[in-house]
Amino acid sequence: MLEFSQSSAAPAAVDAPCAVVGVFDDAMSPAAQAVDSASGGALRRLRASGDFTGKLDATLLLHGLAGVKAPRVLLVGLGSKAGLDAKAYRRACAEAGKALKAMPIAAAACFLPEVDIAGQDVDWRVRTCALAIGHACFRYTATLKPANGDAPHLEALELVAGVDAAKGLMQARAIARGVAFARELGCLPPNLCTPMHIAAQAQTIADEHAESVTLEVLERADMEKLHMGALLAVSAGSAAPPKLIVLQYKGAGDAKPYALVGKGVTFDTGGMNLKPTGSMEEMKYDMCGAAGVLGAFLAAVELKLPINLVCVVPSVENMPDGGGYRPSDVLHTHAGITVEVLNTDAEGRLILCDALAYTCKRFQPAAIVDAATLTGACVIALGAHASGLFSADDALADELVAAGNRSLDRAWRLPLWDDYKNQLESAFADIANVGGKSAGAVTAALFLSRFTEGTRWAHLDVAGTAWTPGRKGYATGRPVPLLAQWLLDRAGNRDE
Ligand code: BES
Ligand code: MN
Ligand code: ZN
Repeated sequence: MLEFSQSSAAPAAVDAPCAVVGVFDDAMSPAAQAVDSASGGALRRLRASGDFTGKLDATLLLHGLAGVKAPRVLLVGLGSKAGLDAKAYRRACAEAGKALKAMPIAAAACFLPEVDIAGQDVDWRVRTCALAIGHACFRYTATLKPANGDAPHLEALELVAGVDAAKGLMQARAIARGVAFARELGCLPPNLCTPMHIAAQAQTIADEHAESVTLEVLERADMEKLHMGALLAVSAGSAAPPKLIVLQYKGAGDAKPYALVGKGVTFDTGGMNLKPTGSMEEMKYDMCGAAGVLGAFLAAVELKLPINLVCVVPSVENMPDGGGYRPSDVLHTHAGITVEVLNTDAEGRLILCDALAYTCKRFQPAAIVDAATLTGACVIALGAHASGLFSADDALADELVAAGNRSLDRAWRLPLWDDYKNQLESAFADIANVGGKSAGAVTAALFLSRFTEGTRWAHLDVAGTAWTPGRKGYATGRPVPLLAQWLLDRAGNRDE
């Protein structure tokens, strides 16, 4: 993982294999100005010749620039000065990250956090730049041969902002760690990333932070005693035993905890309602909600936030098998509500309903937020840009939308109106697990809402945001930035 540091080096004198300098198309950034005068007008000439105009998304790598100590200068287009908003800034940082990833160097100094952005302070600029470059430089390695003789790659990033941004740097380190954790776990293939493996990952978090974190892992026998019939039913077809992972972080004495719950389906075949060819292999990512809440928990712990936090992950594999559950089964849940299974592929809500009810009853949290790759319908509604957000609590929904906007890990609220409730009616149980073709993301959320009554609750459907589809797509680490920001805000660290 990329190491971040902060300095106040001068662009022409910085001692690094590459200096990253932002260039507006209509003005000079302080670093561009410094490099231009040190080099006798190199940037002006590039602009005059049209070779580099500072257009947003453009980058140009210069070697051996006269008067500049760094052997490489990476120019990064920022577009117009007035147009540089939060999103454009993050895009420019990501482009810089892509270029850096391709260079055979282990360190770089980045001057992008110097530029002004309306409504954002220096801590935000440092943090956002570090996270964007860290994201671009992500490498999956777990099941690849160690690349012997591979060129060096970026390991250290020095962020230059002109003024102190220790808080931004600290937040960047913690959130980047949480994001990397979620991405690595998400990418890991399902023969290795089993419920037991996720529990072992939770154990490493607890071991590393033994002073503030405790872990319990509930086993099948515990779930049976707790009448978690829905969670158990989904796992029944799998040879891998189910786990219910409970992490607790104490940072605020006896205060009511916040709670995060994440869907940890390590592979979703659909069960008896088997998924067709072509839509199954990406279902290794069906534990990305779990990875996301664990990553956000890790970030909060590393930030030593003055809050109490619990993180609950039901983890199972959804397989078809002679011992598996069937469409038309009626399940008895931990909450005492019966559920008619009309589709074994709607398994996420079944494992979550027991985990949510358990978390509400046991911890009486100040608020509970779940994250789940819950519905294909949410992907149809919102695509890859926004996670679906559902809550009956307007204040909680507003907090999460605000945290998403600030972290640029955005969520968009969809309705949770009871108008949709009759779609979940069942003749044989209190509720059915599917609600038909229309508004699939809404009826899934409404199903969950039955199991959180009386608690401030919100649901994030991250089916479209948690990974990038395609053969070379990776887990994105979302919604770690959103949740980490929300927890920072709850801890009173809001600095606007
Ligand atoms: N994990 C899937 C949701 C999913 C599908 C996420 C595609 C990302 C891409 C979930 O368990 C599922 O299968 N949902 C069904 C629900 C349906 C049976 C009501 C779906 O969305 O098709
Ligand atoms: Mn499914
Ligand atoms: Zn699923």
